[in-house]
Amino acid sequence: MDGPSTFGSQEPFGEPLRHLSSVDSTNGEALRWADETDPPPEGAVVLADSQTQGRGRWQREWISAPGASLVMSVILRPPWTDHRFGLLTVVTGLACAEAFDSLGLGPSGLKWPNDVLIDDGKVAGILIETRMRQGVPALAAVGIGVNLADPGLPSEIAERATSLASAAERRGLDAPARREVLRAILERLEAAYRQMGHPSSSDRLRAQVRDRMVMMGSELVLRTPDGDSLEGVAEDLGRDGSLCLRTDSGTVAVHAAEITSARPR
Ligand code: BTN
Repeated sequence: MDGPSTFGSQEPFGEPLRHLSSVDSTNGEALRWADETDPPPEGAVVLADSQTQGRGRWQREWISAPGASLVMSVILRPPWTDHRFGLLTVVTGLACAEAFDSLGLGPSGLKWPNDVLIDDGKVAGILIETRMRQGVPALAAVGIGVNLADPGLPSEIAERATSLASAAERRGLDAPARREVLRAILERLEAAYRQMGHPSSSDRLRAQVRDRMVMMGSELVLRTPDGDSLEGVAEDLGRDGSLCLRTDSGTVAVHAAEITSARPR
Protein backbone atom coordinates (compact mmCIF):
# COMPACT_ATOMS: atom_id res chain seq x y z
CA MET A 1 0.00 0.00 0.00
CA ASP A 2 2.60 2.60 0.99
CA GLY A 3 5.46 2.71 -1.50
CA PRO A 4 9.07 2.72 -0.42
CA SER A 5 10.11 5.37 2.06
CA THR A 6 11.84 8.24 0.31
CA PHE A 7 13.02 9.81 3.55
CA GLY A 8 16.22 11.70 2.77
CA SER A 9 15.35 12.06 -0.91
CA GLN A 10 16.30 15.35 -2.53
CA GLU A 11 12.83 16.12 -3.83
CA PRO A 12 11.64 19.26 -2.04
CA PHE A 13 8.27 19.10 -0.31
CA GLY A 14 5.57 20.12 -2.74
CA GLU A 15 6.88 18.01 -5.63
CA PRO A 16 4.80 16.54 -7.04
CA LEU A 17 1.83 18.75 -6.30
CA ARG A 18 -1.69 17.58 -7.17
CA HIS A 19 -3.73 20.76 -7.57
CA LEU A 20 -7.50 20.23 -7.74
CA SER A 21 -10.19 22.86 -8.13
CA SER A 22 -12.52 20.93 -5.84
CA VAL A 23 -12.20 17.81 -3.70
CA ASP A 24 -14.06 16.27 -0.78
CA SER A 25 -11.06 16.59 1.54
CA THR A 26 -7.38 17.04 0.70
CA ASN A 27 -6.58 14.53 3.48
CA GLY A 28 -8.90 11.99 1.86
CA GLU A 29 -7.33 12.63 -1.53
CA ALA A 30 -3.82 12.30 -0.10
CA LEU A 31 -4.68 8.92 1.44
CA ARG A 32 -6.23 7.72 -1.83
CA TRP A 33 -3.19 8.93 -3.80
CA ALA A 34 -0.88 7.03 -1.47
CA ASP A 35 -2.94 3.90 -2.23
CA GLU A 36 -2.50 4.13 -6.00
CA THR A 37 -0.35 1.58 -7.79
CA ASP A 38 2.29 4.23 -8.47
CA PRO A 39 2.25 6.07 -5.12
CA PRO A 40 3.76 9.53 -4.74
CA PRO A 41 7.01 10.15 -2.90
CA GLU A 42 7.16 11.57 0.57
CA GLY A 43 6.54 15.31 0.57
CA ALA A 44 3.96 15.14 -2.23
CA VAL A 45 1.16 17.65 -1.68
CA VAL A 46 -2.54 17.82 -2.45
CA LEU A 47 -3.75 21.41 -2.82
CA ALA A 48 -7.39 22.29 -3.46
CA ASP A 49 -9.21 25.50 -4.30
CA SER A 50 -12.19 24.23 -2.35
CA GLN A 51 -13.27 21.25 -0.25
CA THR A 52 -16.80 19.91 -0.14
CA GLN A 53 -16.29 17.85 3.03
CA GLY A 54 -13.31 19.42 4.76
CA ARG A 55 -12.55 17.55 7.96
CA GLY A 56 -11.67 19.12 11.30
CA ARG A 57 -10.75 17.49 14.59
CA TRP A 58 -13.31 15.37 16.37
CA GLN A 59 -15.37 14.73 13.25
CA ARG A 60 -16.14 18.40 12.89
CA GLU A 61 -16.52 20.00 9.50
CA TRP A 62 -13.79 22.38 8.35
CA ILE A 63 -15.40 25.16 6.36
CA SER A 64 -13.25 27.02 3.88
CA ALA A 65 -14.52 29.39 1.25
CA PRO A 66 -12.86 29.24 -2.19
CA GLY A 67 -10.31 32.00 -2.57
CA ALA A 68 -10.30 32.74 1.16
CA SER A 69 -8.31 29.79 2.41
CA LEU A 70 -5.37 27.53 1.81
CA VAL A 71 -6.22 23.86 2.19
CA MET A 72 -3.59 21.24 1.62
CA SER A 73 -2.24 17.89 2.74
CA VAL A 74 1.33 16.65 2.76
CA ILE A 75 2.06 12.94 2.42
CA LEU A 76 4.66 11.66 4.88
CA ARG A 77 5.99 8.21 5.65
CA PRO A 78 7.93 8.73 8.87
CA PRO A 79 10.56 6.04 9.31
CA TRP A 80 10.29 6.38 13.10
CA THR A 81 7.46 4.93 15.13
CA ASP A 82 8.43 6.16 18.61
CA HIS A 83 7.30 9.18 20.62
CA ARG A 84 8.17 11.46 17.69
CA PHE A 85 5.02 10.46 15.85
CA GLY A 86 3.03 12.22 18.56
CA LEU A 87 5.02 15.40 17.98
CA LEU A 88 4.03 15.69 14.31
CA THR A 89 0.92 17.79 14.91
CA VAL A 90 2.62 20.36 17.13
CA VAL A 91 5.71 20.46 14.89
CA THR A 92 3.46 21.12 11.89
CA GLY A 93 1.92 23.95 13.91
CA LEU A 94 5.40 25.25 14.61
CA ALA A 95 6.23 25.19 10.89
CA CYS A 96 3.07 27.21 10.14
CA ALA A 97 3.85 29.70 12.93
CA GLU A 98 7.40 30.18 11.65
CA ALA A 99 6.08 30.59 8.10
CA PHE A 100 3.62 33.31 9.16
CA ASP A 101 6.36 35.08 11.12
CA SER A 102 8.62 34.95 8.05
CA LEU A 103 5.92 36.81 6.12
CA GLY A 104 5.98 39.57 8.72
CA LEU A 105 2.68 38.50 10.31
CA GLY A 106 3.95 37.34 13.69
CA PRO A 107 4.35 36.75 16.44
CA SER A 108 2.34 33.57 15.91
CA GLY A 109 1.48 31.33 18.82
CA LEU A 110 0.33 27.74 19.26
CA LYS A 111 -2.73 26.53 21.12
CA TRP A 112 -2.21 22.89 22.00
CA PRO A 113 -2.64 20.65 20.19
CA ASN A 114 -3.45 21.86 16.70
CA ASP A 115 -4.27 25.56 16.43
CA VAL A 116 -2.04 28.35 15.17
CA LEU A 117 -2.92 31.78 16.52
CA ILE A 118 -2.17 35.33 15.52
CA ASP A 119 -3.31 38.23 17.71
CA ASP A 120 -5.23 35.67 19.85
CA GLY A 121 -7.34 34.45 16.91
CA LYS A 122 -7.15 31.04 15.23
CA VAL A 123 -5.58 31.44 11.81
CA ALA A 124 -4.80 27.81 10.98
CA GLY A 125 -5.72 24.28 12.06
CA ILE A 126 -3.98 20.96 11.59
CA LEU A 127 -5.45 17.50 11.22
CA ILE A 128 -3.16 14.51 10.74
CA GLU A 129 -4.72 11.26 9.56
CA THR A 130 -2.62 8.13 9.67
CA ARG A 131 -2.65 4.64 8.21
CA MET A 132 -1.18 1.82 10.26
CA ARG A 133 0.89 -1.12 9.03
CA GLN A 134 1.63 -4.01 11.37
CA GLY A 135 0.40 -1.99 14.31
CA VAL A 136 2.56 1.08 13.70
CA PRO A 137 1.78 4.32 11.85
CA ALA A 138 3.17 4.01 8.34
CA LEU A 139 1.62 6.90 6.47
CA ALA A 140 0.46 10.35 7.49
CA ALA A 141 -1.68 12.82 5.61
CA VAL A 142 -0.71 16.10 7.24
CA GLY A 143 -3.70 18.36 6.64
CA ILE A 144 -3.32 22.10 7.03
CA GLY A 145 -6.09 24.68 6.69
CA VAL A 146 -5.18 28.38 6.76
CA ASN A 147 -7.63 31.29 6.82
CA LEU A 148 -6.29 33.61 4.15
CA ALA A 149 -9.13 36.12 4.27
CA ASP A 150 -12.09 36.77 6.55
CA PRO A 151 -15.07 36.51 4.22
CA GLY A 152 -14.67 32.75 4.26
CA LEU A 153 -15.16 32.39 7.99
CA PRO A 154 -18.52 31.12 9.20
CA SER A 155 -20.14 33.48 11.72
CA GLU A 156 -20.08 30.96 14.59
CA ILE A 157 -16.30 30.85 14.52
CA ALA A 158 -15.57 34.32 13.14
CA GLU A 159 -15.21 35.89 16.58
CA ARG A 160 -12.52 33.38 17.66
CA ALA A 161 -10.78 33.33 14.31
CA THR A 162 -8.64 35.61 12.25
CA SER A 163 -7.00 35.53 8.86
CA LEU A 164 -3.62 36.31 7.37
CA ALA A 165 -5.21 39.19 5.44
CA SER A 166 -6.47 40.77 8.68
CA ALA A 167 -3.13 40.23 10.37
CA ALA A 168 -1.40 41.86 7.39
CA GLU A 169 -3.77 44.81 7.45
CA ARG A 170 -3.15 45.37 11.15
CA ARG A 171 0.57 45.49 10.37
CA GLY A 172 0.21 47.79 7.35
CA LEU A 173 1.20 45.01 4.93
CA ASP A 174 -0.37 43.55 1.81
CA ALA A 175 -2.08 40.21 2.28
CA PRO A 176 0.25 37.37 1.25
CA ALA A 177 -0.63 35.36 -1.85
CA ARG A 178 -1.69 31.75 -1.36
CA ARG A 179 1.36 30.37 -3.21
CA GLU A 180 3.65 32.44 -0.98
CA VAL A 181 2.03 31.02 2.16
CA LEU A 182 2.13 27.49 0.73
CA ARG A 183 5.83 27.77 -0.12
CA ALA A 184 6.74 29.27 3.28
CA ILE A 185 4.90 26.49 5.16
CA LEU A 186 6.37 23.69 3.04
CA GLU A 187 9.91 24.99 3.45
CA ARG A 188 9.62 25.09 7.23
CA LEU A 189 7.75 21.82 7.49
CA GLU A 190 10.39 20.06 5.40
CA ALA A 191 13.23 21.47 7.52
CA ALA A 192 11.48 20.52 10.78
CA TYR A 193 10.59 17.05 9.52
CA ARG A 194 14.16 16.32 8.50
CA GLN A 195 15.32 17.49 11.94
CA MET A 196 12.94 15.04 13.56
CA GLY A 197 15.11 12.27 12.19
CA HIS A 198 17.73 13.18 14.80
CA PRO A 199 16.62 12.60 18.41
CA SER A 200 18.50 15.62 19.82
CA SER A 201 17.00 17.93 17.18
CA SER A 202 13.57 16.61 17.95
CA ASP A 203 14.10 17.68 21.58
CA ARG A 204 15.10 21.12 20.29
CA LEU A 205 11.96 21.31 18.17
CA ARG A 206 9.89 20.36 21.18
CA ALA A 207 11.44 23.27 23.10
CA GLN A 208 10.60 25.61 20.23
CA VAL A 209 7.00 24.42 20.25
CA ARG A 210 6.81 24.88 24.02
CA ASP A 211 8.10 28.44 23.73
CA ARG A 212 5.24 29.28 21.38
CA MET A 213 2.50 27.63 23.41
CA VAL A 214 0.34 30.53 24.52
CA MET A 215 -1.31 28.78 27.44
CA MET A 216 1.71 27.40 29.20
CA GLY A 217 1.41 28.11 32.92
CA SER A 218 -2.31 28.93 32.64
CA GLU A 219 -5.14 27.22 34.48
CA LEU A 220 -6.98 25.20 31.88
CA VAL A 221 -10.23 23.39 31.53
CA LEU A 222 -9.99 20.58 28.97
CA ARG A 223 -12.61 18.36 27.38
CA THR A 224 -11.58 14.83 26.45
CA PRO A 225 -13.03 12.85 23.51
CA ASP A 226 -15.23 10.95 26.04
CA GLY A 227 -16.77 14.24 27.13
CA ASP A 228 -14.96 14.29 30.49
CA SER A 229 -13.66 17.50 31.91
CA LEU A 230 -10.11 17.93 33.20
CA GLU A 231 -8.75 20.90 35.12
CA GLY A 232 -5.19 21.84 35.90
CA VAL A 233 -2.20 24.00 35.14
CA ALA A 234 -0.38 23.53 31.81
CA GLU A 235 3.13 22.63 32.93
CA ASP A 236 4.99 21.28 29.95
CA LEU A 237 4.88 19.60 26.56
CA GLY A 238 5.70 15.91 26.78
CA ARG A 239 8.27 14.26 24.51
CA ASP A 240 5.39 12.61 22.67
CA GLY A 241 3.46 15.85 22.13
CA SER A 242 1.16 15.30 25.11
CA LEU A 243 0.22 18.15 27.42
CA CYS A 244 1.54 17.78 30.96
CA LEU A 245 -1.22 19.03 33.22
CA ARG A 246 -0.77 19.54 36.96
CA THR A 247 -4.06 18.54 38.57
CA ASP A 248 -5.11 18.18 42.22
CA SER A 249 -4.21 14.50 42.03
CA GLY A 250 -0.81 14.93 40.40
CA THR A 251 0.61 15.61 36.94
CA VAL A 252 -1.00 13.76 34.07
CA ALA A 253 -0.04 13.46 30.40
CA VAL A 254 -3.03 14.40 28.26
CA HIS A 255 -2.89 12.93 24.78
CA ALA A 256 -6.24 13.93 23.32
CA ALA A 257 -8.38 16.83 24.46
CA GLU A 258 -9.32 20.34 23.59
CA ILE A 259 -8.89 23.41 25.70
CA THR A 260 -12.26 24.92 26.48
CA SER A 261 -11.05 27.72 28.74
CA ALA A 262 -7.80 29.18 29.98
CA ARG A 263 -7.04 31.62 32.77
CA PRO A 264 -3.56 33.07 33.16
CA ARG A 265 -2.22 32.67 36.73
C1 BTN B 1 -9.08 21.69 13.13
O1 BTN B 1 -8.71 22.78 13.56
O2 BTN B 1 -10.09 21.12 13.55
C2 BTN B 1 -8.25 21.03 12.05
C3 BTN B 1 -8.65 21.52 10.71
C4 BTN B 1 -7.84 20.92 9.57
C5 BTN B 1 -8.38 21.33 8.23
C6 BTN B 1 -7.51 20.89 7.11
S1 BTN B 1 -7.93 21.68 5.58
C7 BTN B 1 -6.86 20.62 4.72
C8 BTN B 1 -7.03 19.25 5.32
N1 BTN B 1 -8.12 18.54 4.70
C9 BTN B 1 -9.13 18.33 5.53
O3 BTN B 1 -10.19 17.76 5.25
N2 BTN B 1 -8.83 18.82 6.75
C10 BTN B 1 -7.50 19.40 6.78
